[in-house]
Amino acid sequence: MHKFRINGQRRLRGSVQISGAKNAALPALAATLLTEDPVMLRGVPPVADVRTMSKLLGHLGSTVQVLEETPQGGLTVALRGGRPDWTAQAPYELVKTMRASVLVLGPALARTGQARVSLPGGCAIGVRPVDQHLAGLEALGAQIDLEHGYVTARADRLTGANFRFAQPTVGGTENVMMAATLARGTTRLENCAREPEIVDLAALLVAMGAEIEGAGSATIEIEGRESLHGADHRIIPDRIEAGTYLIAGLLGDNEVRVEGALAADLLPLLNELDAMGADLQILEEAIVARGSELGPREVTTAPHPGFPTDLQAQFLLLGTQVDGVCKVHEKVFENRFQHVPELNRMGAAIELRERTAITSGRRPLSGAAVMATDLRASACLVLAGLIASGVTEVDRIYHLDRGYQDMELKLQKLGAEVERIGSNSRRGLERAKLAPA
Ligand code: UD1
Repeated sequence: MHKFRINGQRRLRGSVQISGAKNAALPALAATLLTEDPVMLRGVPPVADVRTMSKLLGHLGSTVQVLEETPQGGLTVALRGGRPDWTAQAPYELVKTMRASVLVLGPALARTGQARVSLPGGCAIGVRPVDQHLAGLEALGAQIDLEHGYVTARADRLTGANFRFAQPTVGGTENVMMAATLARGTTRLENCAREPEIVDLAALLVAMGAEIEGAGSATIEIEGRESLHGADHRIIPDRIEAGTYLIAGLLGDNEVRVEGALAADLLPLLNELDAMGADLQILEEAIVARGSELGPREVTTAPHPGFPTDLQAQFLLLGTQVDGVCKVHEKVFENRFQHVPELNRMGAAIELRERTAITSGRRPLSGAAVMATDLRASACLVLAGLIASGVTEVDRIYHLDRGYQDMELKLQKLGAEVERIGSNSRRGLERAKLAPA
């Protein structure tokens, strides 16, 4: 199992290139099931979750071919959706490692009339049910059966309908929007999630011939089509990865230019950082963050355009380096503070009160052996190691590899002393295997 060993308190200087958004790439990969034509996706990040989705698509009969890897590390991937066969189900072994596997349900159902996907297992950051995905598909006329840990959805042809999500859900909005592109008639989805990744998925679907209006707002209307066709689409930059490096730039005496960071997608973070007095320079396709004396702030995570839960852990770490008390309320997931005990072992002195974390003024951190528990918590612990005195070892870095491309290489380029240690150093090989045999 891999670990990161970090020798802290090195000054970060220079620029870092942001990869394509994992959370946009995963639904885009699933969307290729909607057509038998080839779909070209550019800027796909070669991260573990993309490999899992690619394996899953291979399992469902798609061919996935990596055509090119750019110097920035983005992949150009050609996919041909085959004709997914519902007996070729999405198995638990794949689905348990990645909740986003459930995104194949809507497109496979819409295309073939039947789909079978293992229910996602328990997850370290909360219960995370898929009831809204299923209710949306039911509204379009699917018959849903749950048995033996699998969900089976059937419908000869989906029919457009009005459906209101009980709460905004990113994956749910994506799943039902994809299914509705092949339904008969008009679908109107209300209380939709509004994340930039949903807008990116809609752009891909429109390029494939779908008719969609309102993606990025709470109401999305989809006029169903008989079939969709191939397309060539570039995935948007990863705003969460960008936000993570911006926070790294604001720590200590650092200066980091985050290439590919799109201010429009990052506004919920930038507004908070600005209010804290952060030294940020916003350029057209980059943002520069410089080490700053920051004031305290209280933030609450919420669906977009609220403060992203995926930056909560990294922001909390920043909060431990601020004069004054910061409060972070986590309202999206019920169990997303597992980084707090680890940060406290490094000296952070954060108090947890139910779903609120409260810092206690600026705290020097000292290196320790810590354990990553989920994707974003891992990133937070790596940032903590960068500013801590002495050596930090972050264990279970496989969580980080699910969503951050080559984080140690990107940090090394900025001047950090961080190395990957552990038995397995086959990451290059794993990447070459992205295309299923
Ligand atoms: C996506 C992101 C993830 C991010 C999250 C919230 C991907 C691949 N992952 O996850 O990185 O942290 O959005 O921004 O894009 N819920 C229900 N019923 C449902 C669906 C969701 O109750 O059917 C709840 C969840 O338990 C959670 C909240 O709604 O409390 C938001 O979840 P959701 O937006 O669906 O997150 P994901 O799409 O899984």
